[in-house]
Amino acid sequence: MASHASIIGTGSYLPKKILTNADMANIVDTSDEWIQSRTGIRQRHIAADDEFTLDLAELAARQAIDAAGIDSSEIDLIVLATTTADQIFPSTACLLQSRLGCQGGPAFDVQAVCTGFVYALAVAEKFIATGSSQKALVVGAETFSRILDWTDRNTCVLFGDGAGAVVLEARDKPGILSTHLHSNGDYSALLHVPSGVSNNYAAVQEGRAYVEMEGSEVFKMAVRKMGEVVDEALEANNLAKTDVDWLVPHQANQRIIAATAKKLGMSMDRVVLTVGEHGNTSAASIPLALDTAVRRGDIITGDKVLIEAFGGGFTWGSALIEM
Ligand code: UT7
Repeated sequence: MASHASIIGTGSYLPKKILTNADMANIVDTSDEWIQSRTGIRQRHIAADDEFTLDLAELAARQAIDAAGIDSSEIDLIVLATTTADQIFPSTACLLQSRLGCQGGPAFDVQAVCTGFVYALAVAEKFIATGSSQKALVVGAETFSRILDWTDRNTCVLFGDGAGAVVLEARDKPGILSTHLHSNGDYSALLHVPSGVSNNYAAVQEGRAYVEMEGSEVFKMAVRKMGEVVDEALEANNLAKTDVDWLVPHQANQRIIAATAKKLGMSMDRVVLTVGEHGNTSAASIPLALDTAVRRGDIITGDKVLIEAFGGGFTWGSALIEM
């Protein structure tokens, strides 16, 4: 009999250092008023110089493992979503596996930028559904501050660093009810870092491999696609909009989130909103928001939670989860 993947623990971590909007106004020509009114962001957390994506991932993972009440050695799969891996190789997932002491099972990174956690969760869910894995760790972790141009006000005010994680366990009943993943590479140039290992490695070596974004184009597409995946998930599960207890969207911009909630006919008090606290943390944003809502006691066992994201690629997708 096929198994289902249930979330049995969540965790998250934000670096100690905070840059407020007032701090950003000392770095670029911006203001708290502009940032808050356009995005809802109040502050972002920035990793210390000696703190890396792996460190953030480990702290979030350990919290999720504790919450699950298991020993880290029981983890038999790690799928880690990141755009900001510490090393070209090995994957951050392999480095994390060693730190956690759960060597032997598969461990790999997935790269879908802001949709990374949804992709990672969907992949891990399939490993569990086919019986290949019993206890999976799914992590979203980023040090996005390292790929920002701190002289570009169009981008540097928007992003931050952080990590979130969940532990999945094979159970008889769902769990994760559905996942839907999409991408369209035709739009790659609207949101990208246009250099890497094989193309213009000098930019990486010289610390000029920066995020570039056509903000308003991305905004329009994000609102459209985040709405579409809501419909797709509900239809696939034969559910009405009112059956969803919580929406946990990618935390990029409060206005995008509000537009999606409106489409779902959901009042904002059923939408988990943490973007104000940490800005856009890319693949970390959904597990950060999910963990915040679980620890607050808002999301409880039995709740139907819809997570959804949109990001570079373009990539977008959703997962409907019974907690
Ligand atoms: O996570 C992956 C997906 N990413 C996203 O979802 C981000 C999507 N995009 C957005 O969130 C929004 O488009 C932004 C927040 C990036 C921008 O908001 P907007 O309402 O679309 O503003 P805009 O791009 O139309 O820019 C309006 C003005 C421009 O000035 P002019 O040309 O009208 O004079 C910009 O130069 O705002 C200016 N501007 C700023 N002003 C103060 C841009 N950045 C800043 C800034 N402070 N930081």
